[in-house]
Amino acid sequence: MFNAEDPYRFFTWNVTYGDIYPTGIHQQGILINGHFPGPEIYSVTNDNLIINVFNNLPEPFLISW
Ligand SMILES: *[C@@H]1O[C@H](CO)[C@@H](O)[C@H](O)[C@H]1NC(C)=O
Repeated sequence: MFNAEDPYRFFTWNVTYGDIYPTGIHQQGILINGHFPGPEIYSVTNDNLIINVFNNLPEPFLISW
């Protein structure tokens, strides 16, 4: 439930393409704030998370949790 009395945590995620080396071999990957994999979110139960996502890919991008 979205409860205004619980703490808010704000994040800005900038989504871009970039070079990744997940197996030591170069690939193009999707970066969040220049990193792959993306950032961890530290939060506790009932926190309200506000995540502003800027899609800088040349195509639509879907995030789900
Ligand atoms: C996202 O990153 C790109 C590439 O570094 C940069 O050009 C752009 O200004 C950034 N956008 C935001 C909203 O931070």
